[in-house]
Amino acid sequence: MNRLQNKVAVITGGNSGIGFATAQEFIVQGAHVVITGRNPQAVQEAAAQLGNQAVGIVSDTASMADVLKIADQVQAHHARIDVLFVNAGVAFVAPIAQVDEAFFDEQFNINVKGAYFTIQQLLPLFNDHGSIILNSSVATHLGGAGSSVYSATKAALTTLSRTLSTELLERNIRVNVISPGPIVTPIMSKMGMSAEQQEQATQAYTQQVPMKRYGQPQEIATVATFFASDDSSFVTGVEIIAAGGLGTL
Ligand SMILES: NC(=O)c1ccc[n+]([C@@H]2O[C@H](COP(=O)([O-])OP(=O)(O)OC[C@H]3O[C@@H](n4cnc5c(N)ncnc54)[C@H](OP(=O)(O)O)[C@@H]3O)[C@@H](O)[C@H]2O)c1
Repeated sequence: MNRLQNKVAVITGGNSGIGFATAQEFIVQGAHVVITGRNPQAVQEAAAQLGNQAVGIVSDTASMADVLKIADQVQAHHARIDVLFVNAGVAFVAPIAQVDEAFFDEQFNINVKGAYFTIQQLLPLFNDHGSIILNSSVATHLGGAGSSVYSATKAALTTLSRTLSTELLERNIRVNVISPGPIVTPIMSKMGMSAEQQEQATQAYTQQVPMKRYGQPQEIATVATFFASDDSSFVTGVEIIAAGGLGTL
């Protein structure tokens, strides 16, 4: 219960789903947590639910103006940080013929550009021996039709974990990546699908996963805790695919 004692962790997109579950688990393990999100009310409610070891800051990952302010916002609460979980993300699917510039830019701006510059802006606050965890997706290992843009954004994060691992060796900051399979979160309800389409997609994904089920957000939170803690002190530049065998079996 004390694997993250005295550590400060920033979790982007921490008001919902995997990010929120990870904030809960980090707090159980003794960490102080800063969650970010773009919706002020959602951030406030999530931070209140997490309790007095958490604070929430409003920061839209799609906005460079917001990203450039994030270090000051974090420093208003904590002088130094130890862990960054780069988790905020969106997922939309469309066949290539239907993809326009706005569709492409929205996903790349949030999932890649925002993620990249969030790391850059928060690096000066890191204690040495820190841990950066990137939330990618098993989609990078699959050839899912309609996923050309989303999968490319997540593949960018996967390769970033390796280049940054090398760059940050001298500061003993480890960079690792989690690639979840289908996880029960609100993300599908934000994809613009009808209830019927969501149900069909859920059934299809469930059949694809060798374990024949969706994962729970807590099952990603525990992987993030491994990467955040000293349990993984000799692990950097590594990907864990947490997908019930999807993409690996
Ligand atoms: N669920 C899955 O099956 C699955 C599988 C593989 C990978 N992932 C990845 O896991 C991560 C978390 O997703 P989730 O499933 O937990 O979905 P979620 O519940 O929708 O959580 C996503 C979080 O990111 C936030 N976010 C989105 N755009 C943002 C922006 N522009 N600025 C700030 N915050 C923003 C969301 O805020 P709002 O609440 O305001 O939308 C929310 O807090 C994503 O990167 C996703 O790609 C999920």
